[in-house]
Amino acid sequence: MARILRQIIALCIIVAAVGWYLTAPVLRPTAAMEKLTADAGHGEVIFWASGCASCHMAAGAKGADQLVLSGGQAFPTAFGTFIAPNISPDPKAGIGAWSLADFVHAVQDGVRPDGTHEYPAMPYVAYAKMAPQDLVDLRAYLATLPAAATPSAPHRVSFPFSIRRALGLWKLMFGGTGYVLRGDLAPEVLRGRYIAEAMAHCGECHTPRNPLGGLQTAKWLGGAAIDDGKSKVPNITPGKLDWSADEIYAYLTTGFTPAFDAVGGAMAHVVENMGHLPESDVRAVVAYLKAVPPVK
Ligand code: HEC
Ligand code: HEC
Repeated sequence: MARILRQIIALCIIVAAVGWYLTAPVLRPTAAMEKLTADAGHGEVIFWASGCASCHMAAGAKGADQLVLSGGQAFPTAFGTFIAPNISPDPKAGIGAWSLADFVHAVQDGVRPDGTHEYPAMPYVAYAKMAPQDLVDLRAYLATLPAAATPSAPHRVSFPFSIRRALGLWKLMFGGTGYVLRGDLAPEVLRGRYIAEAMAHCGECHTPRNPLGGLQTAKWLGGAAIDDGKSKVPNITPGKLDWSADEIYAYLTTGFTPAFDAVGGAMAHVVENMGHLPESDVRAVVAYLKAVPPVK
């Protein structure tokens, strides 16, 4: 009896140790990035392309207030409600005192300076693919924005989702950082893929998720339900989105569909963000949309 008990205890310790090992945060090296020269002007384009303000500005912020990244917007999901934190340059309430490495690990590895995992409500699985220079430029631009002293609010997430360590397993299962569209792609499609998959995270809203919140990449951009349960995000793969390239371009830059309906919901932010990009970049996103496999 005592022997069996000892064996069970030993097994538990092994399982716990393996679990601890598997859920450990993985951090990319940043030494090479420290040597890059930052260009805050270029960082502004990266900022809009990757939509940071859409989530980190105050709810309903307009105009110049969109540049005050005080956080506070709530994102209801099946796992609880996440509140975007303050990422303004305030040294106490925001990220003004963070090193470049802290910033890169938070944005690309989903790991906070205290070593805990971030919830994937922050789209770091997409941002993980961003180029080191773009991260350095983005950080330099963020440092030029107004500081806000509003403290970050806690998330409203209940057990077991409140255990951040368990997110390590989620990352192992769904944190794959490769591109979804692959193969021999034209340069314009490659550029569009970088913007759409690494920065603008179109897939985070337009791709359906499995019950654990992982993106179903086999149905990439095939349409999804928004977590508020009310709205639907349309399928934007070829065949379903049967607009011409010019019509898609017009929608992404003006917010009007070919039938003159105005864009609504979360997509309105995306259209605003796209308006800050050079025409060639938005055209590249359109070329990418024309190249993704159709989803029925
Ligand atoms: C879809 C909404 C969304 C977008 C877009 C987004 N974030 Fe976040 N971000 C969040 C949420 C939610 C958290 C909190 C995650 C957590 O606590 O686990 C977060 C956390 C962070 C953190 C960690 C802050 C802290 O105090 O722990 C940083 C830094 C950050 N985001 C920077 C950015 C940058 C830079 C961008 C643009 C490249 C960006 N975010 C885009 C939602 C978003
Ligand atoms: C934050 C969530 C979100 C993100 C990110 C997002 N979209 Fe959308 N998108 C939506 C929603 C919601 C709608 C429906 C808008 C409406 O009903 O007016 C939509 C609509 C669209 C439509 C119109 C489709 C139709 O049939 O009416 C296109 C095209 C589109 N999105 C392309 C994109 C592209 C390209 C990206 C990345 C650059 C992107 N979206 C990123 C949420 C999102």
